[in-house]
Amino acid sequence: MEMNLRLQRNQFGNPSDEDNVLSREEAHHLLNDWVKNERLRLHMLQVGHLMRCWAAEREHLDEKEQWKWELAGLLHDADWDQWPEQHCRKIIDEQEARQIAPSVIRAIASHGPAHFGVEPESRMDQMLYAFDELSGLTHAYSLMRPGGYAGMELKGLMKRFREKSFAANVSREEVLDAQRKANLDLETVMQFIISHQGAVSAAE
Ligand SMILES: [Fe+2]
Repeated sequence: MEMNLRLQRNQFGNPSDEDNVLSREEAHHLLNDWVKNERLRLHMLQVGHLMRCWAAEREHLDEKEQWKWELAGLLHDADWDQWPEQHCRKIIDEQEARQIAPSVIRAIASHGPAHFGVEPESRMDQMLYAFDELSGLTHAYSLMRPGGYAGMELKGLMKRFREKSFAANVSREEVLDAQRKANLDLETVMQFIISHQGAVSAAE
């Protein structure tokens, strides 16, 4: 059944809150409190890690910004486990109530433009969208390899990507749309995930 998840707005949070973020402890507390499904929690830890690494290595952002990127990744699906019909409205409301930086809230609001009706604009927005589904597909691939992430090659991942029956819930169309909007090659993002995601591959 198709749920209507459209947010029908384009402004999130309050510009004067841009310096306000959750602490790492607060973020993990919220994650553990809201998300009981371990696989989903792992997915968010993985996307958070990818976001931080990209912010540091490719965007050369400072620690404070790296944490905002990671926070967006850590919380982007926080409401999916218990309140799928309120995804991602509920986590946005929660962050607005806590007066979290609008850049973080907006990245979460735009991580699925086809579902939420909000287009990614900032680099943080674009990369969360670019990593989300592809991270899941890469993890699914790691689970069927004896060595997991060790020795994983771009060629093998690309083969799975082209195989529509593999991780069939991952929309290839959305993945390609995301890479286009981030102005990156699919291969570049895949390679980045392959080389970084293995660091966060087991349940915490
Ligand atoms: Fe996600």
